Amino acid sequence: MDLVYLKDVAVAAAFQAGTLIRTKLGRVDRIERKGAIDLVTEVDREAEALIVATIRRCFNDHAILAEERGQEQGRQDRLWIVDPLDGTTNFAHGVKSCCVSIAFAVDGETLLGVVLDPFANELFVARKGGGAWRNGRTASVSHIGAMPDSLLATGFPYNIRDREVMAATMSRLRRCLAASQGIRRKGSAALDLCHVAAGHFEAFWEQNLKPWDTAAGVLMVTEAGGRVTDFDGHEYDRNGNAIVASNGKIHVPMLNLLQLKETE
Ligand code: IPD
Ligand code: CA
Ligand code: CA
Repeated sequence: MDLVYLKDVAVAAAFQAGTLIRTKLGRVDRIERKGAIDLVTEVDREAEALIVATIRRCFNDHAILAEERGQEQGRQDRLWIVDPLDGTTNFAHGVKSCCVSIAFAVDGETLLGVVLDPFANELFVARKGGGAWRNGRTASVSHIGAMPDSLLATGFPYNIRDREVMAATMSRLRRCLAASQGIRRKGSAALDLCHVAAGHFEAFWEQNLKPWDTAAGVLMVTEAGGRVTDFDGHEYDRNGNAIVASNGKIHVPMLNLLQLKETE
């Protein structure tokens, strides 16, 4: 399998979508709701159509799982996982914090991840066993090993209004805020993961993410030398509902903060 060609196709598709996203910021005509606070714009759909068309043109027998259209036909052992616009709420409000995320998996294992931030002009690429890069330079997680020196990132799930989800999210936020140097909520899980890979954040956690939010970014973190698990420390499953990604050095302290007791 020619991973270089696969990467070139993914990067080309990401730039097509990224260019559209950049030119449409602040000029969105239609914003719909998929849930109470879960938005979708015509740009999400147009960006996805561009990416899917490019992948189809080059690999017409591969399967594609894309956020807005779901799973497309194709051989299931070759799967593209696409979030055409990660950070839609930011985008809909004119905030320049969003990205395009494309991953490619063989027999369930992610071999390639491409994330493009069209506003910061940052391209993140990871290849299984081949490292992670940010704009062509090797990306590595940070060396910080103490929680009080750690900058963390998180996100809030779309079902945050559920009482139990809200309570657990706030408990974790409180514990992590008290233990760390600070917490950022930038609104794009794929970018949060890339910033762990680049050594900007020491760790990121969130619940209820979907495969298209995490597939590319998780490979970025592991290839940059970091660790990704669920809150119990089990190997991360992109169909599972909890993720903690870190530089590895603060992973166990993060797990201790994120594991809530019955009374919390
Ligand atoms: C969302 C973003 C956000 C995260 C949400 C995701 P979307 O993706 O990644 O940071 O907190 O949970 O669903 O809807 O903008 O593609
Ligand atoms: Ca997303
Ligand atoms: Ca999206």
